[in-house]
Amino acid sequence: MSGKAGRGLALAAAAAAVLIQFARPARSNPPVKPENTMAAQVETPEAVRLILERACRDCHSHRTRWPWYSQVAPASWLLARHVNQGRQKMNLDDWTEEMSAKDICQETRVGSMPLKGYLALHPEAKLAGQEIQTLCSWSQRAVYR
Ligand code: HEC
Repeated sequence: MSGKAGRGLALAAAAAAVLIQFARPARSNPPVKPENTMAAQVETPEAVRLILERACRDCHSHRTRWPWYSQVAPASWLLARHVNQGRQKMNLDDWTEEMSAKDICQETRVGSMPLKGYLALHPEAKLAGQEIQTLCSWSQRAVYR
């Protein structure tokens, strides 16, 4: 490739990197209605609440802490998709009939949650075996209000 073509390509790539920034996904945190939360419907001990807040809240609540790279495409698209899908499946702030504490135990026990990519960037969200045990014994005895 000639130097000229190389420069042309680099310019095109730079232009593309700038242009994709215009496609901005919504990064919304809808208001939390206390009566819709999981805690309003399932008795949630403090220990369980703290684990879910630490490891699950960013994708499974209306209180996502959007990091700076969530402003930068294409990361922004991936993050918004994860949060939208995550909230649909299990939402600590909008708990619906189809959601169950048992799924929380199941997903963490087999290691599919939190998502691997999230753990790479948020090592503090990694759950200890003891914490998974806490979630699982809670889910078995969970009292639905
Ligand atoms: C980085 C975002 C992210 C984090 C953090 C995260 N999840 Fe998820 N979760 C998702 C996405 C996306 C889905 C839907 C796609 C899927 O099932 O893989 C999902 C699905 C689920 C489901 C539904 C599974 C099903 O198929 O019915 C449960 C239950 C769940 N997550 C629990 C948790 C728990 C518990 C934590 C914390 C320990 C957690 N998640 C952390 C993104 C996340």
